[in-house]
Amino acid sequence: MTYHIFQSLFVFGITTGVAISAVVQFLYYTFSGPSPDEVAFLPSPAIEAQQDVPKSNSRAAIQRLEDQFYVSTVQLQDMVKLFVHDMQRGLKRENALIKMLPSYVTKRPTGNERGTYLALDLGGTNFRVCEVTFATGQVRTKQRKFTVSDELKTGPGHLLFDFFADCVALFLDENGIPRDTNMKLGFTFSFPCHQEALNRGRLIRWTKGFTASGVVGEDVVKLLQDAFHRKGLSINVTALVNDTVGTLISHAYIDPLTQAGIILGTGSNAAYVERISEIKKWDGPKSASNEMVINMEWGNWGSDKIALPLTAYDLKVDRASPNPGQQLYEKMISGMYLGEITRYIMLDLISTGELFRGQRSVELEKPYNFDTANMSRIERDHTTDMSDTNMLLKTVYNIDSTLKDRRNLKQICQLVSTRAARLAAVGISAIVTKTNRLNGATVGIDGSVYEHYQHFGNHVKDALRELLGMVAQNVTLAQGEFLRCDG
Ligand code: GLC
Repeated sequence: MTYHIFQSLFVFGITTGVAISAVVQFLYYTFSGPSPDEVAFLPSPAIEAQQDVPKSNSRAAIQRLEDQFYVSTVQLQDMVKLFVHDMQRGLKRENALIKMLPSYVTKRPTGNERGTYLALDLGGTNFRVCEVTFATGQVRTKQRKFTVSDELKTGPGHLLFDFFADCVALFLDENGIPRDTNMKLGFTFSFPCHQEALNRGRLIRWTKGFTASGVVGEDVVKLLQDAFHRKGLSINVTALVNDTVGTLISHAYIDPLTQAGIILGTGSNAAYVERISEIKKWDGPKSASNEMVINMEWGNWGSDKIALPLTAYDLKVDRASPNPGQQLYEKMISGMYLGEITRYIMLDLISTGELFRGQRSVELEKPYNFDTANMSRIERDHTTDMSDTNMLLKTVYNIDSTLKDRRNLKQICQLVSTRAARLAAVGISAIVTKTNRLNGATVGIDGSVYEHYQHFGNHVKDALRELLGMVAQNVTLAQGEFLRCDG
């Protein structure tokens, strides 16, 4: 609603004059209502500049965006310092910005594990059921992927868990496994949980667009076990792990020196191996091991709006999300949101006539209707006339574009994705710095953005070099799916 007011002020020709610009800004801030500290991060000079830009001057628009989206090495370095500081706070107290959740995983695999297990993986829209067999020298998996509908994500929680149990029953039947198998099952549940044991964890809050009721505050292992019971399945849920913990463990199965697991996909987060003596808030049972994997829940970093270079577009994405004020780092770096940031930029430049000669598109005005995969596709379009982008814009969004529009759009995508990659490097650099692994660390990285977004990985590595200098070559970013069941 407020966004449309902002848009229409431009559409109706308020283009010049410092006084009018001040009124527009006043209206914008009044209606969209950022707090005074947010205002400090709004690119007010750029918004002011918009008033003076002739409608067709798309070069000025791109320049304006560059000014807002470029993050310098010095800014990155400052962010790493704050990040390390916030990690330390999270290790000391509950409810810190970065939650730093103990995972109860105190050992990394040795590669000698044996046996057959079931595994469930709920990451976002995909839910996977797998059977994993560890045999001498090899790992065999059977799996099936299901789609979690928006109704299930946002409806009553018991229906979501019934759906999981139905998928498992189908998988067992299809693979000739009896329903009373009594097999052990590991549940990769990619949301923040306060763990009370390896097989007990209460959901702290939903992220990534989930809002299913009756789950926050509950032990999700119990909810799953109850659903199995309702469906007559005899299966023992013996472990609950975050996907980052799963990533760390699966990479460590191949390389025991793996120190961290990172997900850059629909959401973003990291887990790493910490010394128990450093986890000041830990009051759980003593363990023979002196280390524990910490699920950082780094996506919430920066939600105090102090550390991150938030633009007006980021704030719009945040405000319109189901979890405003939360997961701000995630909202700047992960796949669920990059397309949404870009969509807001496109709508803005359309409203000022700086893109597509002001042509509006009903499809583009629908929230979350510009996928991050589109950005990657546009960046990969190396044809002289950018014909693939032309087709995408025409067929999906009914937009007629000029070559200049398409080139500008490509630059916009590059700005948003490069900033994301550089900001992701801040978190990685902070982990390596905090754990004092500057002489050598392997970090396992998975997730659709890192795997499929061309050049994303290179931008992460470039930023790591800027941050760590020569030491960056001691940090190995290991990519690859090993035991996660999403082939
Ligand atoms: C979100 C979740 C987190 C998960 C990440 C990646 O940030 O809160 O638990 O690890 O997405 O899937």
